[in-house]
Amino acid sequence: MSVFSEYKDCIEEGDLVLVWISRDNIKPIRVDSNEIFNTRYGSFPHKMMIGQRYGSQIAIRTKGANKFAFIHVLQPTPELWTLSLPHRTQIVYTPDSSYIMERLNCNPRTRAVEAGTGSGSFSHAFARSVGHLYSYEFHGPRYEEALKEFREHGLVDADKNVTITHRDVCRDGFRIRREDVTSHQFGEDEGEVAIGANVVFLDLPAPWDAIPHLEEVICSDEKVGLCCFSPCIEQVDKTIEALNKHGWSDLQMVEIQAKQFESRRQMVRTVDDAIERLRDVKRRKSEGLERRKRMCESLVSDQPEADETEEKRPVTEKTKFNPFGKGARVKEGDANYKWKEVTKVEPEIKSHTSYLTFAFKVANKSRDEEAVQKILESTESK
Ligand SMILES: C[S@@+](CC[C@H](N)C(=O)[O-])C[C@H]1O[C@@H](n2cnc3c(N)ncnc32)[C@H](O)[C@@H]1O
Repeated sequence: MSVFSEYKDCIEEGDLVLVWISRDNIKPIRVDSNEIFNTRYGSFPHKMMIGQRYGSQIAIRTKGANKFAFIHVLQPTPELWTLSLPHRTQIVYTPDSSYIMERLNCNPRTRAVEAGTGSGSFSHAFARSVGHLYSYEFHGPRYEEALKEFREHGLVDADKNVTITHRDVCRDGFRIRREDVTSHQFGEDEGEVAIGANVVFLDLPAPWDAIPHLEEVICSDEKVGLCCFSPCIEQVDKTIEALNKHGWSDLQMVEIQAKQFESRRQMVRTVDDAIERLRDVKRRKSEGLERRKRMCESLVSDQPEADETEEKRPVTEKTKFNPFGKGARVKEGDANYKWKEVTKVEPEIKSHTSYLTFAFKVANKSRDEEAVQKILESTESK
């Protein structure tokens, strides 16, 4: 079983652990009792992790001050792997991959074809959900890296559900012979692998060159779903042209625009608060003007510059409660003030990386131009 689909309670020597340092800093490590995991906050010997429950927080005392540094030790999931993997290419993130898999109805009966493998981000998500994944990569070093990683994660080789092939799918198509595949999944037999894909995912610069080859490997008696992941609208245009030409239907282009909705409390401000705030602004402005005037006078009269520290800044309302934010900090929810529940939405969309073009094909339905012409003629003559 893959390390991404088995469940374990406690960490053991040799486990792949994802170390959560902060929300955008998660590092994968292989637990080795002789190793130390170093962070800018402190060093964590792997020995401390062995025997701990997955999800635990591990703390160490940092040097000098009486302070602690913390990490969390997490069990790998495809979602966490996407956030921590070594990038060899642009990758597909979970908001897109989860939507695509749902839209293409991925399940344990699915036989998916994916090109290219890239950094293997989507491959890990597919591997957890589908029956079998056939992944293709034409870049030699990237293929080698992905194969090594998939092996280490228990995704390829006997009984596992990922096959990775070193191939330019735009030139040579998707057919694979058993002897082409490095893993031992297909035994020693020669001959072609019956792929019978019912899901296709293309994350390539020129998917329109790969689309004509799909006929060789897609299932001929089931509905087949396809998604092309392209960053430019011009690519979408060319892809749609190729899909139409090769008998794909139900075309739809989707763009995922995920935004975080944060639920929080906001202090209730009254008109009196606003008036008080304006008075405070006026007061501080005139105090500032006075101070500047005195400084200019001292410069003109060649006196030593008035020392700001000697002439202490006047105590202003700044240090007092300011319902408009810039004053003394009030902790959210402080019982001395009135609060209301609000929803804060992120101002920017952070998830868009590409356009998703979906298409479907049923039972090898290529467009029969002659038949279409006959139907058109017969309807026109009526
Ligand atoms: C953007 S990356 C894919 C990222 C991947 N979906 C992920 O989530 O990590 C595109 C990959 O496609 C590969 N590629 C491009 N053209 C190809 C082709 N004709 N055949 C096979 N792989 C190809 C590139 O080498 C690159 O690694």
